[in-house]
Amino acid sequence: MKNKRFYIETYGCQMNFADSEIVNSILLEEGMKPVGDAESADVIFINTCSIRENAETKVWNRLREFRSLKNSRDNLTVGVLGCMAERIRDQIIEQEQLVDMVVGPDAYRDIPRLLQEVDDGRKAVNVLLSLEETYADITPVRTSGNGVTAFISIMRGCDNMCSFCVVPFTRGRERSRPMESILNELRQLSDQGYREVTLLGQNVNSYKTENADFTTLMDHASRIDPEMRLRFSSPHPKDFPEDLLHLINERPNLCNYIHIPAQSGNDDVLERMKRPYTRQEYFDLIDKMREIIPGLALSTDIITGFCGETEEEHNDTLSLMARVQYDLAYMFSYSERERTLAHRKFEDDVPEKIKKRRLTEIINQQMEIQEELNRKEIGREHLVLVEGTSKRSDDQLCGRTDTNKMVVFDREDYQKGDYVVVQIHDCTSATLKGKALRKSSTREYYGDTVLSH
Ligand code: SAH
Ligand code: SF4
Ligand code: F3S
Repeated sequence: MKNKRFYIETYGCQMNFADSEIVNSILLEEGMKPVGDAESADVIFINTCSIRENAETKVWNRLREFRSLKNSRDNLTVGVLGCMAERIRDQIIEQEQLVDMVVGPDAYRDIPRLLQEVDDGRKAVNVLLSLEETYADITPVRTSGNGVTAFISIMRGCDNMCSFCVVPFTRGRERSRPMESILNELRQLSDQGYREVTLLGQNVNSYKTENADFTTLMDHASRIDPEMRLRFSSPHPKDFPEDLLHLINERPNLCNYIHIPAQSGNDDVLERMKRPYTRQEYFDLIDKMREIIPGLALSTDIITGFCGETEEEHNDTLSLMARVQYDLAYMFSYSERERTLAHRKFEDDVPEKIKKRRLTEIINQQMEIQEELNRKEIGREHLVLVEGTSKRSDDQLCGRTDTNKMVVFDREDYQKGDYVVVQIHDCTSATLKGKALRKSSTREYYGDTVLSH
């Protein structure tokens, strides 16, 4: 394998991007060399997502492009990784002849052996899911990031079985990575100058090991470096721990931002979705969050057009979103996935046209809310962590507030990785614009209360 050039292209959620960094690490260990484009690689990996049909369609199209590349070259290996692996392994290898190897999310340690098999002229497959694998001992190699913000997977799989969701089938059973290995990785990132880390899991509040639950983990994690901010994604509304809310409020480096997916605003839909909370319980949780953490920013995931969704049920989602006033929302129309409970039990009976119209209504309302909320930011000050140069102009920097809002401001002498106090003077529905006032630090800005108890 030595000196072979590899290229990894990643689709899907942040956990998939974190997985690509693990694969990266495994391949570097083999002496292989990373390249930035498919054309100059000897081995192309595509790390795939199955969450909605359009995610899979994108991957299929890309694989067909890789096939023409393969036809024009000798010895190009194409491998499919990630969530599509198991479901379509036969289809991929036999019918379409698009790829040489298929590797599921728990089998990445096996990649060197599988590459050898391909070199020996065989197709190579390992899609076994595991009850234990957390890649705890593999340090991810972050080649493509900004050097300021990073992700760490703290658990894998999901046991929740929401009726619409394919993740429990693609990623297997839920398991948590030992706390010490997470803390060690945080220490390394802090030493390397990272200033913000997001802890990832499909359902972080069920993080559980012998010596820690999720609040314990966040407690220890937040003590490692008071100048390193922490975020997490995603918690589930059914059992969000209250002690974590107090901890977030106490610790300046635990961001005042929570992503808390509602999915729907109607009790019957929530029940069909197998989301075990009601609209009222969700509101109670949001109220408690805001009571304990003043200035908290919230975001959510919403699915529109789920099986049997009536106009009234759809309106309940609109009214839930209007009541909560999310700072950000990820909104999707329902896409039926094979093997899920909804696929077996319900009919995907909301016509595409209606799904589309409802999604547009939801998005339009959300954009109005976001713009209104952002307008209220004008005149306020925020501590912004600079992530890099703004996309629009080299003379401007961009970064995020503690509340996860993107801010753009004139570069002056500030740099990537700085904490800068910025006063907001303008906005769109997606971005705040401001003027830098001074360089600062988490402790200086919020007060040095972090670790006093
Ligand atoms: N584990 C996370 C969600 C992971 S998937 C959580 O529970 O919060 C990200 C989002 O994709 C989900 O929150 C849901 O809104 C959306 N999603 C999942 N399955 C979907 C489907 N079949 N159709 C449309 N959207 C879906
Ligand atoms: Fe899917 Fe539900 Fe698990 Fe999230 S919690 S990954 S939506 S089954
Ligand atoms: Fe997609 Fe798998 Fe993530 S299905 S959303 S890449 S867990």
